[in-house]
Amino acid sequence: MSDVAVTVHEGLEGVLVTRTRLSHVDGERGRLIVAGHDVEDWAARFDFEQASQRLWAAAGLDAAGLSERLDVARARAFETLPQLGDALRREDAMDALRAGLAHWPEHTRPEELVAAAAVYTAAHARLRSGCEPIAPCRGQRHAQALLGMLGLADDADRSRALDAYLVGVIDHGLNASTFAARVVASAHSDLVSAVVAAVGALKGPLHGGAPGPVLDMLDAIGEPERARGYLQAELTAGRRIMGMGHRIYRQRDPRALVLERALTQLEAALRARGDESGRTQKRLELARAVEQEAARLLAERHPERPLQANVEFYTAVLLSALGIDPALFSAVFACARSVGWIAHFTEQRKHGRLIRPSALYIGTTPG
Ligand code: COA
Repeated sequence: MSDVAVTVHEGLEGVLVTRTRLSHVDGERGRLIVAGHDVEDWAARFDFEQASQRLWAAAGLDAAGLSERLDVARARAFETLPQLGDALRREDAMDALRAGLAHWPEHTRPEELVAAAAVYTAAHARLRSGCEPIAPCRGQRHAQALLGMLGLADDADRSRALDAYLVGVIDHGLNASTFAARVVASAHSDLVSAVVAAVGALKGPLHGGAPGPVLDMLDAIGEPERARGYLQAELTAGRRIMGMGHRIYRQRDPRALVLERALTQLEAALRARGDESGRTQKRLELARAVEQEAARLLAERHPERPLQANVEFYTAVLLSALGIDPALFSAVFACARSVGWIAHFTEQRKHGRLIRPSALYIGTTPG
């Protein structure tokens, strides 16, 4: 290597590698735009099917009649379960999802993969708890069908809350899994390979891993008045507060608001019809108190670096309020994000160039 000074962009941070119409993360302003909508508005206005349809249309993918197509595709995906052998019995949900999706042939249609992600996540959960998989109910929306297949309460209030989650996390710029999907697409490989690669990236704890630990933290704190002491001890021990901070956002992650709102509505609806032991209300109050205290302590310690709640903070509270096992959190996230991966795959195939960066060689050179 010559001694000419070069800049190595480790992690590609801040490097623009493509153009996209799909989503934009504005970390400085704490703003996420998805297919031309602020995420708060996007999640309030559209359900999962409508949001997917818009995102896919923005990518130039035919998304007409998506509700019906997903409905049919869920039923078909359920019929494939006997062909998967023990793939879905694997211990780790993301491992099972990756193995299940890899069974699909090269020319699988986009909605078949989205449907299969939900069907396989639910079937994995059922099989791991020693139960038979539940077939999807025909004619339902995706969020409701997913709750039903998981064997959980799937009334309108809970389905709406899960829907808000799925829509809120559907796409988020060039995160690691989305970039992985785009790299595969850029080589003109097939959609199944891209989605499987993306699941592999999301499986990594640096990408998809914080909601489980957030829940552990809230359980360990237990009561709002214990938050300050607990958090101070964690920080003094040099540990990070889960669900706080973000690589890009310098403000509160706007998706935290989407999820907090969904939780507030769910909690009020359940309370109004007496369908709540008070657990969700307690968790929500605790989460708010912990978030406030964590933000205050982190601001004292890092006045130079705003560290606020990220999406994982309220994901943990919302998904657990719906009865979803923390072991499934990443897989449920993948059920939503599969729509984004497919949109990015399509966009990359239509307009993109082979992604082929270079590395600075620091090995030895002969002679
Ligand atoms: N708790 C305590 N301190 C934190 C923190 C947190 N959650 N997040 C960042 N910090 C501290 C870092 O230790 C660092 O301090 P130092 O300079 O004294 O070492 C400083 O703030 C700057 O952090 P930085 O390295 O710029 O953050 P990052 O961009 O590398 O990390 C995360 C971003 C998300 C990985 C990080 O905030 C984190 O680990 N959060 C907790 C895990 C989590 O919620 N992950 C889900 C992300 S969606």
